[in-house]
Amino acid sequence: MQEPTSRDAGGGYFRTKTVEESIQDTEEPEHQLRRSLSAFDLMVFGVGVIIGTGIFVLTGSVAKENAGPATALAFVAAGVVCALAALCYAEFASTVPVAGSAYTFSYASLGELPAWIIGWDLVLEFALGTAVVAVGWSGYVRSLLDNAGAQLPDALSGPDAAEGFGFDLLAFLLVLLLTAILVVGVKLSARLTALVVAIKVTVVLIVIIAGAFFINGDNYDPFIPEASGTLAGSGLDAPLVQLMFGYEPTTFGWQGIFTAASVVFFAFIGFDVVATTAEETRNPQRDMPRGILGSLLICTVLYVAVSIVVTGMQKYTELSVEAPLADAFKATGHPWYAGAISFGAAVGLTTVCMILLLGQTRVFFAMSRDGLLPRFFSKTHPHFGTPYRPTILLGCVIAVIAGFTSISELATLVNIGTLFAFVIVAIGVIILRRTRPELPRAFRTPWVPVLPILSVCASLWLMLNLPAETWVRFGGWMIVGIIVYFLYGRSHSRMSTPTRR
Ligand code: ALA
Repeated sequence: MQEPTSRDAGGGYFRTKTVEESIQDTEEPEHQLRRSLSAFDLMVFGVGVIIGTGIFVLTGSVAKENAGPATALAFVAAGVVCALAALCYAEFASTVPVAGSAYTFSYASLGELPAWIIGWDLVLEFALGTAVVAVGWSGYVRSLLDNAGAQLPDALSGPDAAEGFGFDLLAFLLVLLLTAILVVGVKLSARLTALVVAIKVTVVLIVIIAGAFFINGDNYDPFIPEASGTLAGSGLDAPLVQLMFGYEPTTFGWQGIFTAASVVFFAFIGFDVVATTAEETRNPQRDMPRGILGSLLICTVLYVAVSIVVTGMQKYTELSVEAPLADAFKATGHPWYAGAISFGAAVGLTTVCMILLLGQTRVFFAMSRDGLLPRFFSKTHPHFGTPYRPTILLGCVIAVIAGFTSISELATLVNIGTLFAFVIVAIGVIILRRTRPELPRAFRTPWVPVLPILSVCASLWLMLNLPAETWVRFGGWMIVGIIVYFLYGRSHSRMSTPTRR
């Protein structure tokens, strides 16, 4: 069969790298990643990265400020958006089993410039996501240390605790340690992940099962608190959709549920990371869809159950913002459970952080292998078979970011970046079906193009419910990315040379 050639239209901006070229690149020995992951490993990876700061931390603030007991509905709404996107990711990951996730998919369908934009976007998502989770982890560890009577000085407890200048020593050290683990190899980190995931899931199940006995039905009344005006939600703080249509900014009510959904969306981030390990999967065609959809389903069920239980244990107006799950147990007079939950959260957040860091290095690796970033970063380690150069570089940068950053605003920036990637992937599925209908697809997204179009609309809807200032910051990052592309990527791309190797 004749190998399809790269398409090039629009002055090179939309030149695509064929699926065959992408797969061929992975077969060059010195740029090769080791294939060692099974479907089970992927699911463990997925659950390992999905359950984290979102459910352990954000549930409280969202219930308190946006949705009340109806937070469970916000999780359902965000879960539906993710399920639509997951069906698109599953088709792409099983068709293009190459490191780089949405970046690689876009290169194969939309072209180089869109692929660059999405790669740049994913760097933002994973880097800031890693930093956010490291900071959340450090908070839980400090609260455990506190219980044990030990305390770090404020100046080493991060900017939030120090209320001014502060360095988050624990978050910084965590990222460095995880970087070292990733340099040594995926298999080691997958094993470690499995153990940690088991602890984390056990803790979540304890919350659901033990917590169910402490529910007070009165706390569910009203289930959807009445909409009310907000002082905080004015100006650029308000969701873009409210500014666009000139609504009076409100919280609670039905609109509050959507605002809540756009925030707790953070809790679902991670299933897309599973796709970034396609190249290290033994049988990607079969295992990718199982890994992605399986982990998403497990997490959605757990989240809905946790939010119903927690808002039943304590009145939503009284939920804690820092450690809502643990504190709900304290409030009902069961501090022993609270300690165990804090411990599980601290352990569990390490895997989230590690896998986000892994996804980040794999995207960077794929972009450098294509020449869009310096090729220096695409040499794998001669012994460990890991992309150690980007891992070390990015690990150090993220460690510093984690040391100096506070969580809240960064989380919404991570959300907008991820939702943007969902939009591009869904459009990519439709395009690749048209341009390469004959490609073997182990998993086919049902009802194309209707389902991908629904996925685009659903993701856009959540994006519109994010604060306007998040849009402004996201726009700034993207403008920098486009400048870097024109100054470096475009001229160094391997697609810009007639013979690619
Ligand atoms: N979904 C992950 C979390 O909630 C990123 O921490």
